[in-house]
Amino acid sequence: MSRQKILVTDALPYANGKLHVGHVAGSHLPGDIYVRFQRLKGHDVLHIGGTDDHGVPITLAAGKAGVSPKDIVDRYYLLIRDNLKKLGCVFDNFSQTSRPIHHDTARSFFTRLHENGWFDNREVEQLYCSSPERFLPDRYVEGTCPHCDYDKARGDQCENCGTLLDGTQLINPRSDICDVPLKVRKSNHWYFQLSRAQKNLQEWLRSKTDWKDNVRNYCVGWFNQGLEDRPITRDLDWGIKIPLDEADGKVMYVWFEAVIGYVSSTREWAERVGEPERWKDYWYNPDCKLVHFLGKDNIVFHAILWPAMMMAHGDYVLPYNVPANEFLNIEGQKLSTSRNWAVWLDEFLEEFPPDPLRYYLGSVAPETKDSDFAWKDFQARNNNELADIYGNFINRSLTFLIRYFAGIVPAPETLNDDDEAILHILASSTKTIGLHFDQFQVRSAIREYVILGNHLNKYFNDQEPWQTRKTDTDRCAATLYVCAQAVRTLAIVMAPVLPFSTDKIWIMLNLDGNVSEQHWDTAGEPGVPSGHAVGKPEILFTKIDNNVIEAQIAKLGPPS
Ligand code: MF3
Ligand code: ZN
Repeated sequence: MSRQKILVTDALPYANGKLHVGHVAGSHLPGDIYVRFQRLKGHDVLHIGGTDDHGVPITLAAGKAGVSPKDIVDRYYLLIRDNLKKLGCVFDNFSQTSRPIHHDTARSFFTRLHENGWFDNREVEQLYCSSPERFLPDRYVEGTCPHCDYDKARGDQCENCGTLLDGTQLINPRSDICDVPLKVRKSNHWYFQLSRAQKNLQEWLRSKTDWKDNVRNYCVGWFNQGLEDRPITRDLDWGIKIPLDEADGKVMYVWFEAVIGYVSSTREWAERVGEPERWKDYWYNPDCKLVHFLGKDNIVFHAILWPAMMMAHGDYVLPYNVPANEFLNIEGQKLSTSRNWAVWLDEFLEEFPPDPLRYYLGSVAPETKDSDFAWKDFQARNNNELADIYGNFINRSLTFLIRYFAGIVPAPETLNDDDEAILHILASSTKTIGLHFDQFQVRSAIREYVILGNHLNKYFNDQEPWQTRKTDTDRCAATLYVCAQAVRTLAIVMAPVLPFSTDKIWIMLNLDGNVSEQHWDTAGEPGVPSGHAVGKPEILFTKIDNNVIEAQIAKLGPPS
């Protein structure tokens, strides 16, 4: 197969808070797993990320802390980048939307759309607060939704029916952040003519028959309602200034520019590698597969608004896929950062190694519906699967080789049906797992790991090499030859999910290079030659005790 260019982006988290497992389950982890898999397949993959530094909540957080917005976003940028690194999420570039390169990219993008006639200026009425004097951002207004009557709709969007709103559309608007009654004032804004793009978007999305149902259905819902033109400017200081003289005091709507952040981050990468134009090999290349990973609250921006912006621009490749995830609950309840009903990544990584979290979040990934993070389930997966299935098989195989074969992989005289069956399973599991990864189905891939691991332990038990080493040395040699092949297969197929542990397995196998340099398509073939000397086995996964889990559960919720 030819080498495909793949550009993978993970949603840019707002740089005003720490990462929690919801962020990583929704975008960074599936993104990283996909990237690692496609690299093993030999493709040319670029993994792009960063933080989303604009928007009103960041200015409020800065005001509260008594520092500038830039201070806040720089602080969280470092924390977020560092946490992701510890989790093994590796980026070619991880940028900030507050950097000059992004301001420059976003302004050029705006200018192109302006020249192409995609904006019009409208005078609109907006909710205005007299103390402090300011237009009140829509998301800080609450009121009744004009579409579904939900009485706690936010001014920017109704959480209940999903409709995007304007604050003035709300019935009985009231402010979230100040007590004074709201007035209505006029302001000028630039509108992006999203309604004009509907026909082309719909046609384009119709061709995406392989997209996930949750994403397709969501978009169809939007189309049925009819896309409306959207204001993409705001009366604020913190943000990207509009490159027009008549737009003094206005910045771009954060969602309009944040998505362009993927481009800016890619440009930053190209500059860093000394080929400043190379970002175009991806973004301006119709053969590049552009894949955006994100949570379901971001679908409309990535599957509708952003493609419409790119169509309006004209030079960009449209997304190949937008495999959005649903939400991850915590112990059966909706994740809430304000109620501390969350599992924080930095705290998690202080107590546990990263691979068990990657494995667990992969096995409960909210791919098709909301799913649940439960500490006891995490413990069970760690103890019963990582330790008892894979760790056990790998450990007993290598220990046996060291103890009874001086660490040398034996040459089998003959392979019996059981041996052949396992070699066949190694090949077929590799294929199945690869298909799952290619289709963004990490849960299914992990289910396949379990099946494979169970086959391998059963094989070891049934073959009883501890007996045959005394009664039938040829049989024993064949068994251990097959086991060595299986350990290598496990290392490669599990590498996307368990990068740290599979690096260790590769060292234990004493094979050349790194596991990440292998080719996926060879993973199911026997790749450990007879006569090869393996290294020393080490403990891969440690079991987690009940009291450790109880302590984690006790941390949930507001501090008492
Ligand atoms: N900051 C947004 C969120 O956390 C995601 C932005 S993704 C981007 O929901 F592409 F727009 F940057
Ligand atoms: Zn509603």
